[in-house]
This record gives sequence, structure tokens and C-alpha cells, in this order.
Amino acid sequence: MKEPLNHRLGRREFLELTLGWCAAFFALSASAMAAVRFMIPNVLYEPDRRFKALKPEDYPEGATFIPETRVFLLRKGNSFRAVSAVCTHLGCTVNQSPDRKGFHCPCHGSQFDENASVVGGPAPHGLPWLLVAQSPDGRIVIDASQQVKADKYLVI
Ligand code: FES
Repeated sequence: MKEPLNHRLGRREFLELTLGWCAAFFALSASAMAAVRFMIPNVLYEPDRRFKALKPEDYPEGATFIPETRVFLLRKGNSFRAVSAVCTHLGCTVNQSPDRKGFHCPCHGSQFDENASVVGGPAPHGLPWLLVAQSPDGRIVIDASQQVKADKYLVI
């Protein structure tokens, strides 16, 4: 038997319909939120490891320690290169040797020669050399995320 068109909802039918629509709304909302969350990658945002230093003429001949990046910038005439000052043993900051021909670590006594190779102490390997470039405005840029060979210089 057909129901009449002007059928009025009873209380039970009204509650069932309302609950059904609410359940559908929450299910769609949860799916939409999951889809949006899927679009956002799980990435660790690390600080940029490139450091913009001063202009080349602002650095004296020899080694200059840059504390912000724990790097030694070495100048020899018009050529520049950078070496990390982070000891490869346990991460202390190394100092330049008194004779200015290498580096030594004050924590456990590791010693590095002028090429940053280990010559003594517990450090497992030498200090890494870092990429040095020049920015368009003429300043020196040290990229601590890129290691280079010891004989790679920036020549200006
Ligand atoms: S941290 Fe440099 S020798 Fe141990």
C-alpha cells in the first residue's frame, strides 16, 4: 500500500533521520580532514645551513673563526676555503693551534693538521671542509650542508 504524499514524520522517524544525517556529516568531515592531513608532509624543518658572511676584503689573511656557524674561514691571498670547527669526536669547538698550522680540541686533545686531518687524539676523522661561494652581492657564502675536498678553494 502506498503512503500518502503528505505523510508527516513521527518522532522516531525524525530521530532516525537526524542521527543518520549527523553520522554521514561526521564521516565525511573525518574523511576530508584525513585527506587534508595527507597533503601535509611529515617533514622536519631544519634551519638553513648556509651562512652569508662578510665581503672577501673584510677578512684578514689566515684563519678567522665565525662563531655563528662554528667555522674557520681561511684566506690565502685571493682564495678562500672553510673548515668546520666542530670536533669529530664529541662535537666540541676546536681552536687554532698556537703555531697557527692546525687545530686542536680542548676537550679530549684531538689534533688536526693544516689540512684538518687527524694527527692525534680520539677524533675518528678529520674536520670537514665546507663549500664556499660568493653571493650576487659579493659576500661570501658558507654552505655547511655541503662538504668538499680540502683542495677546493673559492678564488676571487
Ligand atoms: S670532543 Fe674533541 S677530542 Fe673529544
